[in-house]
Amino acid sequence: MRGEAGSRGCEILCDSYHIRKGKPKLKGLPASFGTEEEVETLEVVCVDRELRLKVILSYSVFEKSDMIARNVRLINEGEEHLRIEKVLSACIDMDDEEFEMVTLAGGWARERRLQRRRLTYGKQMVSSSRGESSHQEHPFLALVTPETTYQTGCVYAMNFVYSGNFVAEAELNQHDAVRMVLGISGEDFCWNLRGGEEFQAPEALLTFSDEGFGKMSRSFHDFYRNHMIRSPYLHKKRPVLINNWEATYFDFDTEKLLDIAREAKKAGIEMLVMDDGWFGKRNNDDSSLGDWNVNKEKITGGLKYLVEQVREIGMEFGIWFEPEMISPDSNLYREHPEWAIHIPGRKATESRAQYVLDLSNPEVVDYAYECVAKILRSAPISYVKWDMNRQLCDLGSSYLDRVSQQELFHRYVLGLYEMQERLVNEFPELLLENCSSGGGRFDAGMLYYSPQIWCSDDTDAVERLSIQEGTALLYPLSTMGAHVSDCPNHMTGRITSFETRGHVALFGTFGYELDITKIPEQDRKMIPSQVEMYHKYNDLVREGDYYRIASYRENHKYDCFLVAAKDKSEALMTFVQVQCIPNFHGKKIRLQGLDEKALYRLEGTEESFTGEMLMKGGFVIDFMQGDAVSRLYHFVANF
Ligand code: GLA
Repeated sequence: MRGEAGSRGCEILCDSYHIRKGKPKLKGLPASFGTEEEVETLEVVCVDRELRLKVILSYSVFEKSDMIARNVRLINEGEEHLRIEKVLSACIDMDDEEFEMVTLAGGWARERRLQRRRLTYGKQMVSSSRGESSHQEHPFLALVTPETTYQTGCVYAMNFVYSGNFVAEAELNQHDAVRMVLGISGEDFCWNLRGGEEFQAPEALLTFSDEGFGKMSRSFHDFYRNHMIRSPYLHKKRPVLINNWEATYFDFDTEKLLDIAREAKKAGIEMLVMDDGWFGKRNNDDSSLGDWNVNKEKITGGLKYLVEQVREIGMEFGIWFEPEMISPDSNLYREHPEWAIHIPGRKATESRAQYVLDLSNPEVVDYAYECVAKILRSAPISYVKWDMNRQLCDLGSSYLDRVSQQELFHRYVLGLYEMQERLVNEFPELLLENCSSGGGRFDAGMLYYSPQIWCSDDTDAVERLSIQEGTALLYPLSTMGAHVSDCPNHMTGRITSFETRGHVALFGTFGYELDITKIPEQDRKMIPSQVEMYHKYNDLVREGDYYRIASYRENHKYDCFLVAAKDKSEALMTFVQVQCIPNFHGKKIRLQGLDEKALYRLEGTEESFTGEMLMKGGFVIDFMQGDAVSRLYHFVANF
């Protein structure tokens, strides 16, 4: 905290505390919620008398969920103009237990790969200064004891409920003590706190597991399902959708979309999603972001006509937007170049031929929101994919004054949250899927607004194993946007069987991303049974407990995971053999999450096993020929 004299310092001493039932909302920010029976909040009020600064440290304890939600509020009770240069949301000091540091790292099309390293002396951190939580690093940090696996070991984990710049840091110091912190990144951040003003830092979630990553994942999954996601779709099957992005890219019109819809309907698919390219003069990614008027040359008959035709076919309709962006080649930019984030006097860097709108400006937020809302008001649209296809740089706002420029990163995120809050309030029945060049903004903050997020632009079934493993480390399977796409895969050129692609997508939201009028006949014929499979298992996948059994990322051969019903009455296990090993007589897999005493029948066979046999003795996966081949095993208890 920097005062008017220019020196930096802050000495907050505990002044009082109170404990109350329930948990207050955080103004303008996503945050967990719970009833008075589910959560209790301790507020520790600290004061720096010199600065006349009050700091409220808030700890909300969700006892049944093994979760503590932590946030910090700063109030300037004096007259001095203070400047916050660093404010973290959580800090834990503990003794070293030979900790290893676990984070999620990646890149575009390679999101959220588990990364583990020994904690050494000094500070080690992951962070984002890209304006979003990012593909590259993730606002999550765990310190684990060396023996930690999916089933064993102690895990101290923190996850941030925030979608912008963050820092997650662990430090092993000279006394062999460890400090672990999480919060908004201090890079290019400075917030003015004038007399009487408040600053609310985002929420951090803290959990502990003494049964390895598995229990940690299940705690986060349950917590997000029970205390973060508000969408009415949370406990519902999402309609099986077909998205035209990988099918047509920008080359489509009303007739093409209706052809896809007719064929999709025959196969049992329930919703058509029109992706990028329906507005302005956008026939490639060079133009028109900001001009959210329907391109009547492509969408002949208009949007309402298209939506009505799709509904007549018997399907719902969804649409793509990228509301936070502006193309230099757009009417909006020609009219309002000052609405793009840029440093005055310098040419801003283009990425994917676009700039980012300055969401610190309320007028821009209103405009961008109205563009989306107007379209949604014009036709019965059931679903929105809200995309964000570039990260922020060249930070400068023509709206903010000179001393407030370093508020831009955070104000951008607040503007985004405000738009999404308005959207879910005005269109409560809308199914919202967030997206950022695939999974660049897959974080707990966005889950407050949308029950699902597109996991990655990489739809290759083999690549998805590691991406979905990393994502499911924290987030429920029901939140992971996952589709069956065509082969050779557009990202990797890899060919996998249609069946395997279906099995992998089944453990997310499930849908299609291909031109159903063009794919091989034998693939098209499999779609009705895949849709049936989705309907049969989605309640279990969406609501059940997730257990990771083997990781292709670790063993380079096969992947295996299962979802067990909360009452342990059934379990669905997926085994994907990525590489065939010749002369290999079956693989024994130990299941998890079953009732030891119950007798489980393996569906489609006469075989039965006790839970104890399956979990302790193991289950033999018979030899399979081929690479990237998969099987599903459904065990049903005879209670
Ligand atoms: C991003 C998304 C894709 C698609 C394109 C459209 O990359 O992740 O799924 O919507 O934008 O431009």
